[in-house]
Amino acid sequence: MLDAGGQYCHLIARKVRDLGVYAEVRPSDTPAAELKGSKGIIISGGPSSVYEPSSPRIDPAILNPAQGAGVMGICYGQQIIAHELGGVVRKGDRGEYGLAHLQRLRPHPLFDGVTFDGTNGDGTNGDSQIWMNHRDLVQSVPDGFDVLASTETIDVAAMGHRDRPIVAVQFHPEVAHTRQGRRILSNFIFNICGCTRDWDPKDRIPAIEEQIRRAVGDDNVFFFVSGGVDSTVAFTLCLRALGAQRVYGTYVDTGLMRAGETAYVTSLFHNIGATAWHVEDAKEEFLSALAGVCDPEQKRHIIGEQFVAVQERVLQTGHFLEGNWMLGQGTIYPDTIESGGTAKSDVIKTHHNRVAGIQKLIDAGRIVEPLTSFYKDEVREIGAELGIPAKFLHRHPFPGPGLAIRCLCSSDENPLERRPEGWLLPIRSVGVQGDSRSYRSVLALETFPPGDEATALVNRIGDINRVVALAGSKTPLSELRVTRGYLSEERLARLRFCDHIVRRRTEDSGFDQQVWQLPVVLIPLGSTAAPDSIVLRPIDSVDGMTAQVVRMPDDLLQSITAELLNVPGISAVFFDLTHKPPGTIEWE
Ligand code: XMP
Repeated sequence: MLDAGGQYCHLIARKVRDLGVYAEVRPSDTPAAELKGSKGIIISGGPSSVYEPSSPRIDPAILNPAQGAGVMGICYGQQIIAHELGGVVRKGDRGEYGLAHLQRLRPHPLFDGVTFDGTNGDGTNGDSQIWMNHRDLVQSVPDGFDVLASTETIDVAAMGHRDRPIVAVQFHPEVAHTRQGRRILSNFIFNICGCTRDWDPKDRIPAIEEQIRRAVGDDNVFFFVSGGVDSTVAFTLCLRALGAQRVYGTYVDTGLMRAGETAYVTSLFHNIGATAWHVEDAKEEFLSALAGVCDPEQKRHIIGEQFVAVQERVLQTGHFLEGNWMLGQGTIYPDTIESGGTAKSDVIKTHHNRVAGIQKLIDAGRIVEPLTSFYKDEVREIGAELGIPAKFLHRHPFPGPGLAIRCLCSSDENPLERRPEGWLLPIRSVGVQGDSRSYRSVLALETFPPGDEATALVNRIGDINRVVALAGSKTPLSELRVTRGYLSEERLARLRFCDHIVRRRTEDSGFDQQVWQLPVVLIPLGSTAAPDSIVLRPIDSVDGMTAQVVRMPDDLLQSITAELLNVPGISAVFFDLTHKPPGTIEWE
């Protein structure tokens, strides 16, 4: 996959891997010599025009017969092939986005088994619907090419070389809206490139182990494990490749984790067969550094600094910077690519880079990362094959700073403010509005509003970024106030206990399967006898960048609320009705 800047580039690579063929993403201008040995080269779409001087380029040598690979251009990829080989690309002044229908002009192996008349060869209902997203267009094809298909609005929707394995399409075969896109990609990789199936993540395990042994030689490997899926799978692979004596794992107990987490991770690593395993107890130092802090950014900063200090200490006391140690990491494929990764990958990267000892190992190349070719779902499949329990592999994501960003603090006491729509809670939480971060108050409604009223309220009322509904309280809302509260051991224990109740109830009912993440947030709102309240935040998401609220069945919400109101110190339970944007997933 040559990446010409398209947001669909990774999607194409994954679709090719789904078809059972290994695919890797490279910059568009990768020299042809480095691609020698590839059976097929796909040039992705991208936002540029071939006429812009700074637009992504390809090495024209990949189009020479001597290269020996099949080539497919998609969208911008089609335009650049046309441009390089002497065709004409017309500059569009307006884009065309959306659905169209493909009309075939001549048969070609790219369209084997693809139907254009509403029925598939196998009798199922076919559909020639495709999805377009482009501005420029190929106006005339280069010498040696035929136009293979057109649509209502464009003449060259697909083109192919008469004698050589070069094809290109203006539409996006990788998206679901292109109904027969999978078949078209499959035709390219199998019919045109002659690939054979070689990619099943499970079969990769012996190969990965071999790579680890080669990279490590006679050295040993140590990991900072977090209890996350990636570092656990990477650790397990190293353990199998090198034996338990040569793989060392340290888990930092920050005191900010969920109930039973340290014990759970310890027993998991025990079952994996880890013997060189150490829990670094840093609870006291994290808590004392966070004492009296309310500001979310300051909390994050302090947690980052503490991580650095603890990791440096572990590196020193374990003598990992001397002698024959290498650092193991669970970096996965999207983390290695600038455009990929999750919402927080930048944050996570800068955070790790600040540990001077780790940077020193990275600079010296003393690092082993066995999962850098894999996507998250592939890592889970490998993990399953290694015997790691499915329940662990499908855990909800949990933020590194832990419960600290779910335990909100306040240094003053404040009353609530009556508003026409409900009650304004003078507790600020983080949100995303426009392209920037907001830090605003919360509107609490006494009953659940119909439909998507919450979004309309955030748009209408200037000084809020979140709307919650009251699920139950011991005292009427009008009598509650914002209380003084910090990241104390007592409040963290209260949050941990409530989080545990919610986790148990949602797992028992199967509701946890319907959500991507379910933060349980402690807010300093209550009375002298019960100074805190809980907010439930179940959401669905793909990558954490955007999120939709998932409503809980009434009976489940009622029974969880009743149990939470029995917890000492809890006054009320709320349900967060805010999508992301305008809210974020975490309250901070
Ligand atoms: P927000 O709150 O920005 O969160 O909507 C998006 C996703 O990122 C997770 N998150 C983190 N993950 N370290 C992590 O590993 C962090 O510091 C961090 N902060 C937020 C959050 O849980 C959600 O899935």
